[in-house]
Amino acid sequence: MTTRINLNGEIHQDAHISVFDHGFLFGDSVYEVISTHHGHLCFVNEHLRRLRSSAQAISLELPLTDEEMLQEIHKTVAAAGNPDSYIRIIVTRGVGEMDIDPETCTKPNVLIFVKSILHYPEENYKNGINIALVSIKRNPKEALNPGIKTGNYLNNVLAKVEARKAGAADALMLNPTGQLTECTTSNFFFVRDQRLMTPSLNCGILSGITREVVLRLARENGVLVEEGEWPADVLQNAEEAFITGTVKMVMPVTSLDGRPIGDGKLGPITRMMMRLYQDVLKSL
Ligand SMILES: Cc1ncc(COP(=O)(O)O)c(C=O)c1O
Repeated sequence: MTTRINLNGEIHQDAHISVFDHGFLFGDSVYEVISTHHGHLCFVNEHLRRLRSSAQAISLELPLTDEEMLQEIHKTVAAAGNPDSYIRIIVTRGVGEMDIDPETCTKPNVLIFVKSILHYPEENYKNGINIALVSIKRNPKEALNPGIKTGNYLNNVLAKVEARKAGAADALMLNPTGQLTECTTSNFFFVRDQRLMTPSLNCGILSGITREVVLRLARENGVLVEEGEWPADVLQNAEEAFITGTVKMVMPVTSLDGRPIGDGKLGPITRMMMRLYQDVLKSL
């Protein structure tokens, strides 16, 4: 279990950021989480592309090219030497005045944090988890677009707190117009009438890398897929559900607010997507 932190090209066992960094002061940063599977970086090009697009969306110029970033990732993963890694890249606005104006920040800080990956309990994949539909709404696209992966996660933190209080493993959020969106760090899928359904990007969600892979796999394997805009009521007749994310992979959801989804067991489409996703990881 070795942790290594690459801060602006130098590798440390522990690293510190100034209290004047606007990432710390205002959540003014972007980030990505990447994993390795049997030593291979998973979907690294997709993650670096999203990092660049998040940075562009907040007018933050990345100080490294993708190639340089990749080199630094490899260097840090090798220094940590774990069998499989959790890699978090954070690019902050950098040090500036104790004032919200980013103009005073001249040099972004680039952190690559690597530790041994900690997988979720096997039990979650065997029996599925319970999630709660919470009252906290996902940020509207017009305020802080959830499609940008910024370090400003307070919206999701509040939703997670509410879910935990309700005894659920995670929170499912609606957008301000009452449409289903996503969970705090994962995308949401459900099955109805044998169709795999997931909120569309229009609803205000992160375009998850795992979501994209799952959608592709479903289409390639003859599963009918629908991306759409739905109210929470649509889940009353859901037969199955699961969530997706880099570390969670495909994790079954078997109850919502403590009530079973379908028969409360892992359904055939969920099992199929879990297996297909594992096959893709193995093939990397
Ligand atoms: C809000 C949110 N949605 C979805 C995801 C899943 O994205 P990915 O599959 O790229 O890990 C994440 C991942 O952190 C997230 O934070």
